[in-house]
Amino acid sequence: MKFFIDTANLAQIQEANDLGILDGVTTNPTLMAKEGIKGTDAIAAHYKTICEMVDGPVSAEVLGTTFEGIIAEGQKLAAIHPNIVVKVPMIKDGIKAIKWFTDHGIKTNCTLVFSAGQAILAAKAGATFVSPFIGRIDDGSWDGVQLIEQIVNIYNTQGYMTEVLAASIRNPLHIVRCAEAGADVCTCPLSSILGLLKHPLTDIGLQQFLADAQSMQ
Ligand code: E4P
Repeated sequence: MKFFIDTANLAQIQEANDLGILDGVTTNPTLMAKEGIKGTDAIAAHYKTICEMVDGPVSAEVLGTTFEGIIAEGQKLAAIHPNIVVKVPMIKDGIKAIKWFTDHGIKTNCTLVFSAGQAILAAKAGATFVSPFIGRIDDGSWDGVQLIEQIVNIYNTQGYMTEVLAASIRNPLHIVRCAEAGADVCTCPLSSILGLLKHPLTDIGLQQFLADAQSMQ
């Protein structure tokens, strides 16, 4: 399973990249706005910086919702850097646009996916990635990981090439369960990635080893 970081914060991207386990980045308008980025030029410059930091796919989301608007925006985003993946919402014009991008060799990430039916449409349109939002599903007391299992099963059965990118990750257990479910990618906040490091027995064991090492000096 590939690890993407789900943020537009450069310091967090750098910290995750320094671990040596980062395969890509996802952003969305909320994450970009959180960094105070405003205006077309600043947005493009920020995506370029991220692409120069991380050697892997960088999802940049369109802000338009019409077919023509998504195509125009997506083409500009794709021109920023070869690693840009155009992130398109799961709406009717979005599906049409994903098909257009597929036919024109532009990679896409179909976002805001909450059902297996939506994931089938995204795959049929040729999306490079599909992003089911598992944390938001859990927030409504359904089981987001079950959706990942269902989509992985359908894609394997049908031979769809779209990669299942588990999004809206809230904790390290989500990452573990998505790995078990066969997700191709998990896009995570830095806190969830770092949370994977934690185990009290590791801390207790290390303290003991350090104390014993000291006694041998
Ligand atoms: C990633 O592609 C999504 O935009 C993101 O994971 C959404 O996460 P949230 O539900 O925590 O906002």
